[in-house]
Amino acid sequence: MRAFSCWIAAALMLVTTGAGAAEPAGWVSDSREAAGRLGNQLIGELTRALETSPVEAIRVCRERAPVIAAEQGERAGARVGRTALRTRSSANQPLDWQRRVLESFASRLEAGASPASLEYTETAGSGEAAERRWMKPIMTVPLCLQCHGHELAPGVAEVLAAEYPKDRATGFRVGELRGAFYVVWRGSARQ
Ligand code: HEC
Repeated sequence: MRAFSCWIAAALMLVTTGAGAAEPAGWVSDSREAAGRLGNQLIGELTRALETSPVEAIRVCRERAPVIAAEQGERAGARVGRTALRTRSSANQPLDWQRRVLESFASRLEAGASPASLEYTETAGSGEAAERRWMKPIMTVPLCLQCHGHELAPGVAEVLAAEYPKDRATGFRVGELRGAFYVVWRGSARQ
């Protein structure tokens, strides 16, 4: 459990540290909080389930991840979720703008940027149709590799093949860009 706690700390650091020194807009700090709550809850439930088995933990990811994201979205009044360039679940496929952000995170990381320094904010469109968009990288820590690494934990590959025939989210190493949290607010009234 001890080792798990430091991985958790490493994972959480990525969502709790701010990117800039200036005071962020309300919707930016609310986005950080909503994504932070999603990350915390997921890692908590994942860690508990892994104590039983990785196969049990896959069930948590499959059944609980979408529910927790929806709950956090409802609580915040925004759309909250996770996406990636290489997805496991096709429900998490990136939209065009999210793909562009993920690609830019990837190239900035490759150029040496620290993950904690990367945060995306944009206001797209205007009036009622406007969207305030926020994204933050999710990096792999050791515990992720049981289900996203080169060598998966026992039994994992079989379950993934059965439940995610289009899985593209294996073969990662520690410290790689696994995906990103996103938070989207509707309307430019959201300050
Ligand atoms: C027990 C296996 C397991 C572990 C451990 C695990 N994941 Fe996953 N991960 C999954 C499953 C299953 C999904 C698909 C969830 C769904 O259906 O929404 C997933 C989905 C994701 C997604 C959403 C994008 C996609 O590919 O569908 C991200 C991002 C992600 N995982 C990151 C991580 C990170 C970071 C860690 C380590 C902190 C981690 N995962 C640990 C099984 C796991």
